[in-house]
Amino acid sequence: MAQEVRGVIAPGKDEPVRIETVLVPDPGPGEAVVRVQACGVCHTDLHYKQGGISDDFPFLLGHEAAGVVESVGDGVTDVAPGDFVILNWRAVCGKCRACLRGRPWYCFDTHNAKQRMTLTDGTELSPALGIGAFAEKTLVAAGQCTKVDPAVSAQVAGLLGCGVMAGIGAAINTGNVGRGDSVAVIGCGGVGDAAVAGSRLAGAAKIIAVDIDDRKLETARSMGATHTVNSRETDPVEAIRELTGGFGADVVIEAVGRPETYEQAFYARDLAGTVVLVGVPTPEMKIELPLLDVFGRGGSLKSSWYGDCLPSRDFPMLIDLHLQGRLDLAAFVTETIQLDEMEKAFERMHRGDVLRSVVVL
Ligand code: APR
Ligand code: ZN
Ligand code: ZN
Repeated sequence: MAQEVRGVIAPGKDEPVRIETVLVPDPGPGEAVVRVQACGVCHTDLHYKQGGISDDFPFLLGHEAAGVVESVGDGVTDVAPGDFVILNWRAVCGKCRACLRGRPWYCFDTHNAKQRMTLTDGTELSPALGIGAFAEKTLVAAGQCTKVDPAVSAQVAGLLGCGVMAGIGAAINTGNVGRGDSVAVIGCGGVGDAAVAGSRLAGAAKIIAVDIDDRKLETARSMGATHTVNSRETDPVEAIRELTGGFGADVVIEAVGRPETYEQAFYARDLAGTVVLVGVPTPEMKIELPLLDVFGRGGSLKSSWYGDCLPSRDFPMLIDLHLQGRLDLAAFVTETIQLDEMEKAFERMHRGDVLRSVVVL
């Protein structure tokens, strides 16, 4: 029997979100129902509400979540009721050409629940990133549930479900940051700060944080930045070169998602260095670069989807490192809020006042 829970719905383009009763079906084959304990507020939720991602309103928002599996459908063997899990939005298929070649983090056929959650009048909901976790319970594909050590608090664990994993993964998975490397991170919001923390974890010797907001630079320093550059006042390319013996950084991570900051990243790396684009651009954005510079500077220009993470490998590992005191994930939680405070949280996020507001349920 479907269960009635409260959830945050984005009813239509730019309309305020509201709390509605959501019907969560019992899990079918390969599915799981998860009792959500915490879910972070991410820019992507705001983009859904603004109609920037698709027109499939109404959306059930929320996708950075952790909770406890309540029930599972037929054929589910990897997770069981009672397991503490982080929800991921890339449940790999194991069968597509990327998976078969041993690169499951690129999986081209990721899974979500087949059944739909609905409003009480039967209207089907589109869950954000196939999750929809600003709700007391949600229905997902079982592969979207990754078990981690239950000793961690849910508000901290949920962060790995999206932005913080994207940033850490941009550094350690996509950028391959290693011991002794110099790294520059352009844009120090939640994603950029996570890239800073990931670079520190990987042993980077120099971590240069760039932002246009001094408050962000201060936080970046607490996450592990060794140098900071306010790019409103100082040319960041010049500054990064100066801090790296005149050459540029080994890895530059762009965590804003704009052409001008991408261009800065492109020119702020050393010859044969790596640029990682983890900031997400919008469709109208274009970039023009001298092709000779693309060739002549060598190295690699990469983009990082969800930090090129493999949830089954990365979530438990990062939670263990956090529990051992080697990665301060709790520092990303600026505030905890209730389900009915979403609009306020969006405003604070928009003003740049928070790294993460996390809804606790
Ligand atoms: N130069 C440097 N920093 C900038 C610039 C700029 N021109 N413009 C904005 N920033 C900084 C902001 O001051 C802020 O600190 O970039 C940061 C962006 O952070 P958030 O808005 O908190 O966004 P975040 O959640 O970190 O996501 C960053 O990654 O996953 C993507 O969709 C996400 O594109 C977004 C990006
Ligand atoms: Zn696949
Ligand atoms: Zn997100």
